[in-house]
Amino acid sequence: MPNLSIAPDGTKYEIPTEEENAKEREILIKITEEQRKLGRKIVAVQGLGFVGCVMATVVADATDKDGNPYYFVHGHQRASKRSYWKVPVINSGIPPVSSSDPEVPEIFRRTVVERKNFRATSEDSVYSLVDIVVVDIQLDATKPSFGEAEKGYCDLLAFREGIRMLGEHIRPDCLVLVETTVPPGTCEKVVKPILEEEFIKRGIDIKANPPLVAHSYERVMPGAKYVASIRDFWRVYSGVNQKSIDLCREFLTNCLDVENYPLTQLDNTNASELAKTMENTYRAVNIALTLEWARFAEQIGVDIFKVRDAIRKRKGTHDNLLRPSLGVGGYCLTKDPVLANWAMQTLFGLEGRLDMAIRSVNINDTMPLHTIEIIAREFETLRNLKIAVLGVSYLENVGDTRHSPSKTLVEFLRKEFADVLTHDPYVEAWPELEESQVESDLKAVLPGAEVVVFAVGHDQYKNLKPAEVVAMCGTKPLIVDCSNFLNDATIAEYKKLGCKVRGVGKGHIV
Ligand SMILES: NC(=O)c1ccc[n+]([C@@H]2O[C@H](COP(=O)([O-])OP(=O)(O)OC[C@H]3O[C@@H](n4cnc5c(N)ncnc54)[C@H](O)[C@@H]3O)[C@@H](O)[C@H]2O)c1
Repeated sequence: MPNLSIAPDGTKYEIPTEEENAKEREILIKITEEQRKLGRKIVAVQGLGFVGCVMATVVADATDKDGNPYYFVHGHQRASKRSYWKVPVINSGIPPVSSSDPEVPEIFRRTVVERKNFRATSEDSVYSLVDIVVVDIQLDATKPSFGEAEKGYCDLLAFREGIRMLGEHIRPDCLVLVETTVPPGTCEKVVKPILEEEFIKRGIDIKANPPLVAHSYERVMPGAKYVASIRDFWRVYSGVNQKSIDLCREFLTNCLDVENYPLTQLDNTNASELAKTMENTYRAVNIALTLEWARFAEQIGVDIFKVRDAIRKRKGTHDNLLRPSLGVGGYCLTKDPVLANWAMQTLFGLEGRLDMAIRSVNINDTMPLHTIEIIAREFETLRNLKIAVLGVSYLENVGDTRHSPSKTLVEFLRKEFADVLTHDPYVEAWPELEESQVESDLKAVLPGAEVVVFAVGHDQYKNLKPAEVVAMCGTKPLIVDCSNFLNDATIAEYKKLGCKVRGVGKGHIV
């Protein structure tokens, strides 16, 4: 029985056997030798997820002034059933991520098919062949109980294993550049000691060859400017020693548009790691503030979105006030404050905690319950209430469902025995809520709906005419707008059609 990895489109790929891996090792050595003869340095990107696969193409796409690529890139993806499929998909020149950025398929075609200087593999020994490893594997924060982020912790086990694998294979002069968002202190207290341990086991003198470790975090946004958000964007970096810092600067300078987006060097990796987690905490706190005030606004007849627009006119100081919504999702804002809090207490053994950061995560995580309160106010019971939730991804016009607030909404509505159907034009499968069928046709969720929740502002929903929605429902549903997707004119149209309208932060609707 072959060991299979199934891609999101259902295609099955066989995970290589030991014999095939042995052949792959020979191929890797041959390719690497050929590429070195062309004067290229060799890079491995560890982890071909949302960040790693596109970062790998950006590195492969970088050329000198004569148009010659600086690097050959081996993308390394572990051979798990869940993720191995990315290897054959990438090697056919197809991105393993769906994106609205047209540059994504172009850069994959250019680097994999035309220039042939990016190739994916699942063979671990690839690390012995390279000059630089870029670490882009995931590192999660676990929050054991809902709404209590203070109990959150970081399980470093899989991350440590990933780093140990590098220590077992890399050359002593190989730079390990960590891009994974890590708890502050990780490069100094976790990565470097593991590499030292493995070097010692291999008989490498760590005084003469101290491990070279740098940290530079990604600010990638997998939307319409996915590639540019990696290549044409400001970067912060540092290293555990001067050589690491110098190698990291040279690498980033070759790959990124540092002329227009200059690099910022910080004093040490603790600082660079702190910068990343603080940057995302700043956003989480900003959103938590607007969520808190949205509830206040609702109770005193105020539209928080008009207030926000008014405040944001104070350019320079207030224009980045974020908007309230169903809640906060995605991979980063939901975990990064927790990673920092955990590091403070565990990696550094300090007293106290990052109160504001943790409180913000709690406000953001529990915010979807507020939409349930809004619905519950209008009905005697939620039991058997037919509710259509439009949008299950965490952000408009993307298909990423990781930590989506719609999941909390749907789960808690179902706990109250509401009859919930979900729709999303961008989501084929919802692995975080597998029992939930996500429809791509509104006709599959709207007929008979007593409540329609506009949970995510996908363009398709913004373009819906109220008469169309009401006709499809065949009822006069309660319309719930979770983030100002409906303007006052649209709200008035719904009301004219006999619907009640409510919304997060929209206290002005009577
Ligand atoms: N997604 C974003 O928008 C974003 C933005 C900025 C920073 N980040 C950070 O970047 C890091 C990666 O995020 P992501 O979204 O790409 O995660 P992801 O889960 O999409 O990708 C991680 C990949 O690494 C692979 N992997 C794990 N361990 C491995 C190993 N030992 N060897 C080889 N492959 C391995 C996984 O199978 C997976 O394919 C995280 O720390 C995240 O916080 C993400």
